[in-house]
Amino acid sequence: MNDRPVFNYEYYQRSADYIRKQIGDFKPKTGIILGTGLGDVADLIEAECIIPYEDIPNFLTSKAPGHKGRLIVGRFEGRKVICMQGRFHSYDGYHFEELSIPIRVMKILGTQRVIISNAAGAVNTEYRPGDIMVIKDHIKLTGSSPMRGPNVPEFGERFFDTTNVYTPELRKIARQVGEDSELTVHEGVYFFYPGPQFETPAEIRAERILGADVTGMSTVPEALAAAQCKMPCLGLSLVANMAAGVLGQPLSGDEVEETAKMVAPLLLDYFKKLIRKLP
Ligand code: HPA
Repeated sequence: MNDRPVFNYEYYQRSADYIRKQIGDFKPKTGIILGTGLGDVADLIEAECIIPYEDIPNFLTSKAPGHKGRLIVGRFEGRKVICMQGRFHSYDGYHFEELSIPIRVMKILGTQRVIISNAAGAVNTEYRPGDIMVIKDHIKLTGSSPMRGPNVPEFGERFFDTTNVYTPELRKIARQVGEDSELTVHEGVYFFYPGPQFETPAEIRAERILGADVTGMSTVPEALAAAQCKMPCLGLSLVANMAAGVLGQPLSGDEVEETAKMVAPLLLDYFKKLIRKLP
């Protein structure tokens, strides 16, 4: 703990300054954090600039297999975006405090909203693999907070409100776009589970009693960082599998990847429409 950096404003500013030097006066309005299933978005961005994470001072490098670690700044469906291809999870070994870095750096760069996607397991037995869930709210009872440690007042208050972490106006647009999509789009509650092991069937039963619709290992730390600095946020879950115990068969990471691959074209189509509809 003692040799960890001091996460003060200047810490994040160093990353932002480096990125700003690369992108000049290009001002991305929308931040995108790509989860499993939406990887193709990265290839479709008309890039102004691609920055490997390891080149950015004070940034983190991606450790998860299949997650490329680079920042892509450019236009997607005509919108100016800054996109993280490859993301950070607590199960990779990062401290929760470190998981706030991407959002805080985007905030300094002037990004006005963020879309965070993930793959998740269905706790709600009416959901099916291949469905989408717009995150309405989350439950996070384990692990630490990305805001642990000295507060950085430039990013918001010490004790900040989490009533609308997932911005109602953005959720409404995401639901509306879902009505024209071939995918089934729900709205529900995401349960944060730190992983990397999948939940036990008993844990999933507990999550269901607590009000969860899907369960996953990401998104919430970033969404909390966005909430503190009042950055509007949209969270999208791709339902990749039925959660543990629902079908009575073992879960595997391969199953998650397979569903993601199968739905990717429709998901991409949905995502394009969504981006175009944003104000
Ligand atoms: N549990 C947790 N995380 C996940 C799952 C799951 O079932 N599927 C994809 N990510």
